Amino acid sequence: MKLKNQLLQPCFLLALRFLALVLWSFPGARALDNGLAMTPTMGWLHWERFMCNVDCQEEPDSCISEKLFMQMAELMDSEGWKDAGYKYLCIDDCWMAPKRDSKGRLQADPKRFPNGIQSLANYVHSKGLKLGIYADVGNKTCAGFPGSFGHYDIDAKTFADWGVDLLKFDGCYCDSVEHLENGYKRMSLALNRTGRSIVYSCEWPLYMWPFREPNYREIRQYCNHWRNFQDVYDSWQSIKSILAWTSSNQKRIVHVAGPGGWNDPDMLVIGNFGLSWDQQVTQMALWAIMAAPLLMSNDLRQISPQAKALLQNKDVIAINQDPLGKQGYRLRKEDNIEVWERPLTDLAWAVAMVNLQEIGGPRFHTISLASLGQGMACVPDCTITQLLPVKSKLGFYEWTSDLKIKINPTGTVLLRLAAN
Ligand code: GLA
Repeated sequence: MKLKNQLLQPCFLLALRFLALVLWSFPGARALDNGLAMTPTMGWLHWERFMCNVDCQEEPDSCISEKLFMQMAELMDSEGWKDAGYKYLCIDDCWMAPKRDSKGRLQADPKRFPNGIQSLANYVHSKGLKLGIYADVGNKTCAGFPGSFGHYDIDAKTFADWGVDLLKFDGCYCDSVEHLENGYKRMSLALNRTGRSIVYSCEWPLYMWPFREPNYREIRQYCNHWRNFQDVYDSWQSIKSILAWTSSNQKRIVHVAGPGGWNDPDMLVIGNFGLSWDQQVTQMALWAIMAAPLLMSNDLRQISPQAKALLQNKDVIAINQDPLGKQGYRLRKEDNIEVWERPLTDLAWAVAMVNLQEIGGPRFHTISLASLGQGMACVPDCTITQLLPVKSKLGFYEWTSDLKIKINPTGTVLLRLAAN
């Protein structure tokens, strides 16, 4: 048999595919060794939807108070969120009293959290959930509450004593880059010393970028996830800018992600006001491709059945939580259509096609399967399932086939290619 024919034999192609995957599976960098976030963290975080609303007189239902978190905990348990994987209920900025207590410890605002954080943690744990809290590496939080600078040990111990399970550590009000870097490291070590399992969510690279390129290998050794880019807003403009930043920096950040440490493109804003249905599909699909923490910021008391179904979509969550833990990347952009792909366990691949053209109607895009997964995604053949915007089995394909897909403006088609 001629060499060319031998190279096209299915078993040779399969072996090649396996080899590519083995080579690819070597971890990029050592992770923070706390055994947590082996898959991206899933939960709820108050910031984008509720911000720093401290006026419980005027707005008792949407101010930052223990009542808000207890209501969300109740719903996360009763409405299928916990079972879908959303386990961390996280407090953001503005929970604190303006001053530390007489022993130098942070304390919750007594009016809005009359029973204190420990009692809230007990309640959240009784629902089978975990509690996240927020603090800042600098002199003040971004909203002006007490910062942790000079108090890293006592704050870590306070959070552990209260039964907190995750710390979001912001980076406002730092005097220098050294302060920022040392602060993030020292808090990581302080959390470890408490002996409690506390997921450590950082914003270190976001605050480093204005000074110099962050050392991602180092950040991964201290943090379970890290924000790289600006805060998400409830708008398509914001989602687009996060995707654009991620694809243009993918050579720097994608290889660093893996079990124990993830790039964090910020909260899911699905179920709010600013995104159309197709744009919500795009956020869900791309956050799955990016192996992003899935932290919803929405009002679980008022959410449409459609947004709820999207956020609880088991197939898409399975891609996000894939145990191989490889972050996906943008493969190409052609004529305003972006193709993203992510390697999954069992030699499967997730592929997302985004239509970024904001004029006209749905557009067709044809991809050759041989161009996916370094040529290995559908070798010698595969079964393709469309997961979003609606699930449908597309069937059996050979690696030489083309696939023609219709994508709505600002929408995404998410596919799963499974090895046969
Ligand atoms: C920064 C963070 C946000 C949020 C606010 C709170 O902007 O990036 O995610 O925590 O601070 O003040």
